[in-house]
Order: sequence, then C-alpha cells, then structure tokens
Amino acid sequence: MNRPLHFHSDALSRNGLLEDLHRVRGLTVRLCDPLRAEDCVVQSAPETSPAKWHLAHTTWFFETFLLIPYLPKYRPFHPSFGFLFNSYYESVGEFHPRLQRGLLSRPSLEEIKAYRDYVDQHMGMLLESPDTADAGEIRARARLGIHHEQQHQELLLTDIKHLFACNPLKPAYREAIAPDAGTNPPLDWLRLPAGMYAFGHGADGFAFDNEMPRHRRYLDEFSLASRPVTNAEYIEFIAAGGYRQPTLWLSDGWRKVNEARWTAPLYWEQQDSVWWQMTLAGYRRVQPSEPVCHVSYYEADAFARWAGKRLPTEFEWEPTSFTTTTPLRSHGRFAAVTRFHRLATFSLEPTTTPALRRRSIIRSSRKPIPTSASTYKMSGNRTLD
Ligand SMILES: [Fe+2]
Repeated sequence: MNRPLHFHSDALSRNGLLEDLHRVRGLTVRLCDPLRAEDCVVQSAPETSPAKWHLAHTTWFFETFLLIPYLPKYRPFHPSFGFLFNSYYESVGEFHPRLQRGLLSRPSLEEIKAYRDYVDQHMGMLLESPDTADAGEIRARARLGIHHEQQHQELLLTDIKHLFACNPLKPAYREAIAPDAGTNPPLDWLRLPAGMYAFGHGADGFAFDNEMPRHRRYLDEFSLASRPVTNAEYIEFIAAGGYRQPTLWLSDGWRKVNEARWTAPLYWEQQDSVWWQMTLAGYRRVQPSEPVCHVSYYEADAFARWAGKRLPTEFEWEPTSFTTTTPLRSHGRFAAVTRFHRLATFSLEPTTTPALRRRSIIRSSRKPIPTSASTYKMSGNRTLD
C-alpha cells in the first residue's frame, strides 16, 4: 500500500504544513502494510472501526472540510462517501450507522486507496495554490486534519489489536520487539508544593479546542509516582485477591467486575500459573517490567486503593508532567515512535528539573500508586472517532 506522495510548495514549505501532511498521510498507509485485505474489513466491537474505514474517514475529513469548500471546481471522489465515512459530524449531514461499519465490504480496499490518492493530489493543489483571503483558515483546517489523522493512527492500532485478539489464531501484527530488558529504576515520589498552577495550552503551535483556554487553579501539595505501575506490581494485586474484594472497588466498578467477570486486564490470560497477553506482536508472556495497560479506570482505582494510594487528578498530572522528565513523557506517543504496545523498560532514569529536585523528591518504600500507568492506559484507549 505504500506509494510516494510528491508534494512540494515553496510557500507552504515555510511552515512545514505540506511536509507534515505528506509524512502523516504516508504513515497511516504504512501502518496498514502488515494487514491483509480481509483484516481491513471486520469490525470486532461496537467501539472499534475497520482499518478500511479509518483509511477512508481520515480522507473524508480533508475532502469535506478543505477541498469541497476551498478548492475551486473540486469534484468529490464519490457521491456516497460523504455519508459512508462521516463519523458523527451532524453539521455536515447524515452518516452511516457506526455499528454497521464492518458491513461495508464495498467500496473495496483498492477503491479506498484510490480515494486517498485522489484527495492527496487535490490537497497538494489546494496547498500549492496562491494565497487567498482564506489561506489562514485553510492552513488551520489542514493542521487540524493532520492531527485528526494522527489520532486515528492510534485508534487504528488499538482496533487491530482488538480484532486480532478475537481471533483464536492470535495473529501477530508485527514482529516482537526486543525481549524484556530487566528491571526498572526504583519508584520515586515527585512532590509538588501547594500553589497556583497554570493549565491548558499556552504556547505556540497546534492545540485542540478542549485544551484551551489557559487558566490557573490552586493545588494542595501532593506526590506523584515517578514511573508507571508495572505488570509485576499489578500481578501482586491480582494474587492478593484484588478482583474479589468489593471494598476495593467503586460500586459501578464492582458491578462491572461481576457482570463482565473481570479477573485481569483486557487481553490477559493465565495458563498454568503463568500470565499471557495478546499484543500487536502476537500472544506472549506478560513481561513483568512493562507498564500495565488495558486496565479500566475502575481497575486502576481499585489497584490504587489496595496500594493505600489514589489516582491523580488530571490537574495533578498536568503540572507534574511539565515540570519533570519522566519515561512516560518521553515515550507516550507510541504510534509515532512505533512502540505500539509497550514503553519498553524504563531505561531512562526518572529525572526532574533541578528546581523540582531541590524541592525534594520523596523516596518512599510505600507501594506504588497508579499514576502515569493510568495515563498510559488512556493513551491507548479511544476517546474520539
Ligand atoms: Fe475522526
């Protein structure tokens, strides 16, 4: 599915927009390279979408919000694609039911590839055309479309993993990366003093609207674990009966545990006292030093309560992530750095800014709390469509 995109524009090269479009659109296609055509059609759960749909929907965004309104004489690739590949944008018309995306054996994958090429070529024409009064809006929408497509790249991988996990053959999307590298650094506690902190996007560059406006808020003093909770630590929770103790769970969570018969994170299975899990590298043993992932909010909350701690709030996480350099911050963009499942082991020492280090990092023998582990989970969970 690889094909070159030959975009060039002196005007847009100045801000890198055309290069970014080229790079991101190309990565989406490359992410589908390991897939067979059959893999691209199936919708494995109501919350997931077929790979073919992701390929088309991200293209629909550029056609709908850029080419149709701004490229003179543009003719949509297909009269029905606006209906088929709109996710839920009510403002641009009706859309195909989400639960039926897996029924779209047609258009074929080849037609979707042609759709992508067609739109890419016309996006090149639009972005290479002389500036008009709409140039600022065009660039803003193109930048939004690029970030939208990056979100779908992570959804694409999440959905492929779910699809392959449903298959008794447990196919591997890609070869395994390096085996477990061993131990993690000790868990430190990063203390932030009480005070007013700033939240939200406040720098140059792109941000989604829900990341703004910049605002301030008071926080009491708190400490945050310096690294994610590991699989080994979570196995301790399971072994201690964590999934059988209602007092550890929120009431909604305990109801879910019983309804869904949760006994471990999603994709985990125990065979002869050994934990295995489905990954994008296929079915393999749970690696003790990796961050635990695919745990729900309820599971993370119950683990924290068992550990005698609590989950951080969004407001506690944000200033900590900006004032410290954690392994999570370095590797959270798992699609971009092609890690896909794991953050590897924590080869990076958890470091802090000199200012924060002076304020004190509390080294503690306490059990770890799920801090960045829950954030890592969220990075792999769908929030958008
Ligand atoms: Fe979308």
